[in-house]
Amino acid sequence: VRDLHPLEFAHAGQTKIRDRNIPSSLEAIEENINDIAGVRVICSFCEDIYMLANCLLKQDDITLIEIKDYIKKPKPNGYRSLHLIISVPIFLKDEKRDMKVEVQLRTIAMDFWASLEHKIRYKKNLSEDLQKELAEELLYCANQSAELDMKMQKIRNKI
Ligand code: GTP
Ligand code: MG
Repeated sequence: VRDLHPLEFAHAGQTKIRDRNIPSSLEAIEENINDIAGVRVICSFCEDIYMLANCLLKQDDITLIEIKDYIKKPKPNGYRSLHLIISVPIFLKDEKRDMKVEVQLRTIAMDFWASLEHKIRYKKNLSEDLQKELAEELLYCANQSAELDMKMQKIRNKI
């Protein structure tokens, strides 16, 4: 989910645990970190996102822990996606336990934007001015692609 190489992922996880003063026991980590496991679902149309989310939540072995609707309420930088933190039973050798999974649902356009934004955000050697300029341009693009998503949805609804 975090778009990182496994080694970077491990490091990011350690940093998160340290920064938030989470005790480094397995239980505490499971309790406090929602995105150890993640699934990203890329849909063609915005309405498919809500349809799929509802299907998922109807499953009787899935419990919704938290929903973050960054489509209805995009992040200030323009990020859009529907995030569900759910709990699902996993079956281990001799036990069954619940595991938290972060499910990110987004359209192709939202994913296209997020992947570029992510690349730019991790470029550390950009001047402050350039960062500001890029952030503004990205926000503009996010709004443009949201508009395109809506237009495409309308076209689909006609057929
Ligand atoms: P943390 O994941 O612990 O930082 O908690 P949070 O409350 O910030 O979670 P949030 O739901 O905002 O984001 C979790 C994941 O969503 C990230 O790991 C990314 O995969 C994705 N995400 C959130 N915001 C952005 C964003 O601004 N840009 C991009 N490209 N991805 C984002
Ligand atoms: Mg975050």
